Amino acid sequence: MMTERLEALSARKDEPFMRLTWTDPQTGAHGFLVVHTLVSDLATGGTRMRAGCTMSEVEDLARGMAAKTAVFDLPVGGAKGGIDFDRKDPRAVGVLQRFCQAMRPWLDAHWVTAEDLGVPQHLLDEVFERLGLHQSFHAAICRAADPSSTLHRVRASMNAPVPGGFLLGDVIGGYGVAHACIATANAYGWAPAQATVAIQGIGTMGGGAAWYLHEAGMRVVAVADAAGTLYCPDGLDVPALLDLRDGYGEIDRSRLPDGVEQLPREAIIAAPADIFVPAAISYAITMENVDRIGARAVVEAANSATTPDAEAVLTGRGIPVIPDFVANAGAVAWAWWVLLGWVGTDPEDSFRRLRTEMLAKVTLLVERWALDGVPPRQTARELGATNHSLPLPRTVTIP
Ligand SMILES: NC(=O)c1ccc[n+]([C@@H]2O[C@H](COP(=O)([O-])OP(=O)(O)OC[C@H]3O[C@@H](n4cnc5c(N)ncnc54)[C@H](O)[C@@H]3O)[C@@H](O)[C@H]2O)c1
Repeated sequence: MMTERLEALSARKDEPFMRLTWTDPQTGAHGFLVVHTLVSDLATGGTRMRAGCTMSEVEDLARGMAAKTAVFDLPVGGAKGGIDFDRKDPRAVGVLQRFCQAMRPWLDAHWVTAEDLGVPQHLLDEVFERLGLHQSFHAAICRAADPSSTLHRVRASMNAPVPGGFLLGDVIGGYGVAHACIATANAYGWAPAQATVAIQGIGTMGGGAAWYLHEAGMRVVAVADAAGTLYCPDGLDVPALLDLRDGYGEIDRSRLPDGVEQLPREAIIAAPADIFVPAAISYAITMENVDRIGARAVVEAANSATTPDAEAVLTGRGIPVIPDFVANAGAVAWAWWVLLGWVGTDPEDSFRRLRTEMLAKVTLLVERWALDGVPPRQTARELGATNHSLPLPRTVTIP
């Protein structure tokens, strides 16, 4: 029985619908687009930029996007863009713009993209504006009967102010991750004030998750950015740390609050906490470091955060992994709820819907794990397969 489960965990490979490789004529950088599935002629998934990004990584991410749209029962397929380039290089914006220009046939008609690692939404939208596409959801928006009013609605939703001084579009994904953690803690009976969390990455996803976990009364005892790990067993002052971030999601070490210990970047993996949230790079948990995981549960905010073999080790040790395509899917689900008119303009409507769906899904995953030992990824896959095995629409109506 357990062997079958482990096989199911590693059987993640299936062929994408389409792969494209682009070479930047100015820098020689490579960019990739993978469309894993097209549903109603559309596919959705962010665009990332990082030195070392590969086609294989983008394939994994596109497959993950298809799984997310299935689990959240969205009438679109999954895709992903990736560019192998250092986002801090002064030429990075030019590379991104030329990549988007080269991808125009897909961005015009089929591929709805958004921010991802190294590419903030405001930068992507500036590039789209310069290309005459207005906003990164262009392929969906241009299907609306009145595209300019849909564009206005999308921008209003993304820029809606929410408590804490944030914009809804910047924190909704992290809000979903926080509620995946809260559902996990609830299912195990861990009281919020007693539950501790360690987060790798403090950018869009990690920062948003840290904020809402702190708000829920959980202790965020460790966070890492690209420069290192910050640790405080009594709980970090999350609002103060978020104020110290730069545009790359890195914390200014010269102004750290008292009592924060600075540790090497990799120390986050072993941080003593109930829940570990990888919210930065893909393949963060591998066979090389899985034995050092100090948490009792893993909630994946980063896409493809755990390699299949490392996940099998974790589940063998009794540590459930709430998979990326559930835990971090709040960002894409919400974007489509906005596009499809399934949430109103009041941010509380979006928070309520995401909270309700995330708590229900993660509770189901953790309870099945606790009662029957079925890995959460397997239950989530079954949920997605059930949703997307039903007859899918050939077209979507964007109001
Ligand atoms: N932004 C979204 O809407 C979204 C949605 C779903 C999933 N994701 C996934 O979440 C992850 C993070 O994306 P993001 O948009 O928050 O990125 P981001 O660029 O906003 O932030 C990345 C954070 O990770 C840190 N970091 C980078 N390398 C690190 C390392 N080796 N060790 C520790 N920290 C490191 C950075 O310093 C920064 O704090 C990615 O895997 C992405 O695919 C993002």
